Amino acid sequence: MGISRRTVVTGLAGIIAVPGAAVAESLAPTPQETLGPYFPVRTPAEHNFDLTRLPGRTGRAAGQIIELNGRVLRVDGSPIPKAKIEIWQANALGRYTNPIDRNPAPLDPNFKGVALLHSAAGGAYRIRTIKPGPYPDPAGGTRAPHIHFQVAAGDYLLATQMYFPAEALNDKDILMSTMSGRHRDPTNVICKQVEASEPDVLRFEWDIVLLQA
Ligand SMILES: [Fe+2]
Repeated sequence: MGISRRTVVTGLAGIIAVPGAAVAESLAPTPQETLGPYFPVRTPAEHNFDLTRLPGRTGRAAGQIIELNGRVLRVDGSPIPKAKIEIWQANALGRYTNPIDRNPAPLDPNFKGVALLHSAAGGAYRIRTIKPGPYPDPAGGTRAPHIHFQVAAGDYLLATQMYFPAEALNDKDILMSTMSGRHRDPTNVICKQVEASEPDVLRFEWDIVLLQA
């Protein structure tokens, strides 16, 4: 997994410089956020990293393909392998497969938007999926594109939502735009776009930092 120390530091938060001494690294923990109403009602089966294709189907999920790479880390920067990572997201038109979703946008027969992964050696995880679409929130606004994560390691459980950079909707999102007021740093939940490695696939990186584990 090719995330440099610089990426970890600049992408996540914190470096505490101690004058005249070695630099002590302390990463800001990824903020907790509500699970939201669309947590999968069925426990996802262990999933291939590629959410754009479903077993038994020849088609591919509609939408912009993205690849997301990152690591699960402790605040001291050490990696957490074997963390349980549950992921759920809307399809490209903003619809979840959860049956309580009232969004009239159509389901995509080639996309469930649910995955269960475990971090590998070095804490690495990787998914290939489609960029989720925005969708209406109950207060009359529009949720910015985001992917839900629940990460478990030891007895620590993190629920959070990851957003995309340079999205106009981020500033209006009912959760994202209120994070600072809720003492959560929104910069820690925005992934970083990195250089593409294949045509028509956007690449992002996002590390998940657990406060305890
Ligand atoms: Fe959501």
